[in-house]
Amino acid sequence: MPDRLNKRPNDLSAFWMPFTANRQFKQAPRMFVGAKDMHYTTEDGRQVLDGTSGLWCVNAGHCRPKITEAIQQQAAELDYAPAFQMGHPIAFEFANRLVDMAPEGMDHVFFTNSGSESVETALKIALAYHRAKGDGSRFRLIGRERGYHGVNFGGISVGGIVANRKMFGTLLTGVDHLPHTHLPEQNSFTRGEPEHGADLADELGRIVTLHDASTVAAVIVEPVAGSTGVLIPPKGYLKRLREICDKHGILLIFDEVITGFGRLGTPFGADYFDVVPDIMTTAKGVTNGVIPMGAVFAKKEIHDAFMNGPEHLIEFFHGYTYSGNPIACAAGLATLETYNEEGLLTRGAELAPYWEDALHSLKDAPNVKDIRNIGLVGAIELESIAGEPTKRAFSAFLKAYEKGVLIRTTGDIIALSPPLIIEKGQIDEIVDCLRDVLNEVE
Ligand SMILES: Cc1ncc(COP(=O)(O)O)c(C=O)c1O
Repeated sequence: MPDRLNKRPNDLSAFWMPFTANRQFKQAPRMFVGAKDMHYTTEDGRQVLDGTSGLWCVNAGHCRPKITEAIQQQAAELDYAPAFQMGHPIAFEFANRLVDMAPEGMDHVFFTNSGSESVETALKIALAYHRAKGDGSRFRLIGRERGYHGVNFGGISVGGIVANRKMFGTLLTGVDHLPHTHLPEQNSFTRGEPEHGADLADELGRIVTLHDASTVAAVIVEPVAGSTGVLIPPKGYLKRLREICDKHGILLIFDEVITGFGRLGTPFGADYFDVVPDIMTTAKGVTNGVIPMGAVFAKKEIHDAFMNGPEHLIEFFHGYTYSGNPIACAAGLATLETYNEEGLLTRGAELAPYWEDALHSLKDAPNVKDIRNIGLVGAIELESIAGEPTKRAFSAFLKAYEKGVLIRTTGDIIALSPPLIIEKGQIDEIVDCLRDVLNEVE
């Protein structure tokens, strides 16, 4: 890369940064200029251990040669082909490989460019599916409090993070929400799946009764809610949701944007919890985060419901200019090869007990009010400073960065999701750093 592109520009004002405290950042910027495997390099030449896989996406670690080479080669060979009414082999190949690894029955893949687009796509497939079957009165979508399904209008409508919704008007109509599953009084400091709260799934029955099942199209949940601060489903909760959906002919959508591709120690959250949804949204780890891409998986019967009418007609009026982009597909194929060659889709299961013990060793650190973990995901919830919510965790984030570890915070919760190539010594490094940080922050 020309060196000038890696130098900090004199003026940082033009770039309106996403989900960022812009003014704070621009006063004291934190810039990465390189990355390799488990580490970032900062502009002042420091190494920062990646405790978050970027944004839950770089599951195989950074700048993996196979992925880099695949992208370079594809960019030189076929950079772009129209996504509508035209094809290119690598998109079909990638879809086949994805379906091969997906839970039983998820036979079709629709490509998008992000998690948010995957969610919009899944919601639209669900609505259009019922209509294609002659059941168009099913228009309601059920999400969950504290759910995160990206930032587009469908996603924030079914999502349940107040700050992401309150500025944006009336959102989609016909949406209702399940209660979240966070029960700190019963479940604090649980290792893995909490014991209490499966009955919260029964709230779906109540909502369905209120609206009548004949109006409900789909329920969307994250198998493990990540962005809200890692909420792990109570034992049996997802199975119960599945049963209630089946009873009422409602589609179950799993938003696997962060749980997909090995995060829990299984290829997908559906595998971990042994619950197969009807539609599954993915993104992030599908290309190791290197190229924007998402993939929505659908069961055969859903796909097939669209495949009728005159054959020259488009069956589903939806898609993106970059759906199945050749370079993204090349990155995705190389990513799957890397995952498979290195056993990364199940490596989280081997490391999970060590990870769990390491995280829970922070139980007695100052201001820790809960610790949660599953697979290679962890959360440390802190007591908020009175009158200044989010400040303590944000200070911890800044201090950890100074000390050479990248963590993520949401509210007063520290969320961790390191690359699946992490070594035990690096787990210790993260936890030791956090212990120091928690001892130092106010
Ligand atoms: C569960 C879930 N769905 C959707 C998204 C949105 O993905 P993107 O930021 O790629 O649009 C995210 C992002 O964190 C997510 O965690």
